[in-house]
Amino acid sequence: MNNYFQLSPATARTPSRVSPPAAAPKFKNPRAKHNYVGRSCAVAGVGAYVPSRVLTNFDLEKTVDTSDEWITTRTGIKERRIAGKDEFTSDMAAEAARRAMKSAGVTADQIELIIVATITPDMVFPSTACLVQQKIGAKRCAAFDLEAACSGYIYALEVAQQFIMSRTYDTVLVVGAEKLSAIVDWKDRNTCVLFGDGAGAAVLQNRAGTHGLLTTVIGADGGKAELLMMPGGGSRCPASKDSVDARLHFLRMEGKETFKHAVQAMCTAAEEALRRCEVDISKIKCVIPHQANRRIIDAVGERIGATPGQLFVNLDRYGNTSAASVGIALDEAVSTGRIQRGDLVLIVGFGGGLTWGAAVIEW
Ligand code: ACO
Repeated sequence: MNNYFQLSPATARTPSRVSPPAAAPKFKNPRAKHNYVGRSCAVAGVGAYVPSRVLTNFDLEKTVDTSDEWITTRTGIKERRIAGKDEFTSDMAAEAARRAMKSAGVTADQIELIIVATITPDMVFPSTACLVQQKIGAKRCAAFDLEAACSGYIYALEVAQQFIMSRTYDTVLVVGAEKLSAIVDWKDRNTCVLFGDGAGAAVLQNRAGTHGLLTTVIGADGGKAELLMMPGGGSRCPASKDSVDARLHFLRMEGKETFKHAVQAMCTAAEEALRRCEVDISKIKCVIPHQANRRIIDAVGERIGATPGQLFVNLDRYGNTSAASVGIALDEAVSTGRIQRGDLVLIVGFGGGLTWGAAVIEW
């Protein structure tokens, strides 16, 4: 029988299926009021992938009017990874997914839903999530892309959590993946020094005896959409000779204005997530902020009362990888022992849209 046309296990599941009760809560879980008793959304495993090619600030000095000194002091970025010509967002996403599945001890057959957060899909359609499904051999699941720019990973965690807590699915794969080098204007020094390529993934599961995601806060303000955009390539401005000549198929950003909103939105989201769980910042082992700019991270850390030791930073090596950034950082924090089972983790991000989000996770 052709597997492609089978219902996913969750779709076929009878409503009578009840999971074993989760452990008694140590922290206030705001989801409890939604009658999600007996469910949890554990981060069962994480994984990441970055391309092997390193592009340093010194390399950029040779192509645009910039300097290592300017980039380092204004952003904290020293180098970024650039995908190969034949390496696509779906390839990076699939490799990060395989690593997350391995760390979770989950096989492709167990995945019931794939959500890929990206602003650089392989194509407008089909979704990159469908391409990832094929690449990892997960035949019996639903798959879709989610677009919330740099907040995409946190948005995807929230959506995945809703499916798990509502008993629709038990196992969801979330991936944030970007090939930003494909939409960066390499002649524009204002933006080309900031971005890099890569992917981060997480397997989320209903697991007895765990807490996992305690809350997720997401928000948006479309009134500020013009601050960060790629004007060409959509239905409003399809590709034409004129649109290409006008460089409309590249990312554009009002850096200064974005900076201000980034700090404000990330602080508000982080504080709201902590408030909902009734957790003080001092109880957080590791804060994983979106890796856009070291100055943004430091300003957010200071305002929410996090010590420098709580903040996880790896943007010096990867730059801003948009939807992949929090996933790559989370994977590195876990693999280097910065996060251990039982620790409380705060993740917080901000991006084009404008969008923002934060989540508190008991690891
Ligand atoms: N090298 C040298 N000089 C540069 C460069 C560069 N790469 N880029 C800009 N400059 C110049 C500017 O031209 C300007 O010169 P001028 O004063 O003669 O006009 C000067 O440096 C200062 O430029 P500003 O834009 O004021 O620099 P600022 O301190 O604001 O830093 C930056 C710019 C790094 C972009 C910062 O504003 C920032 O990080 N913004 C937020 C970006 C962000 O968070 N994005 C997240 C979302 S991304 C997404 O969703 C896809």
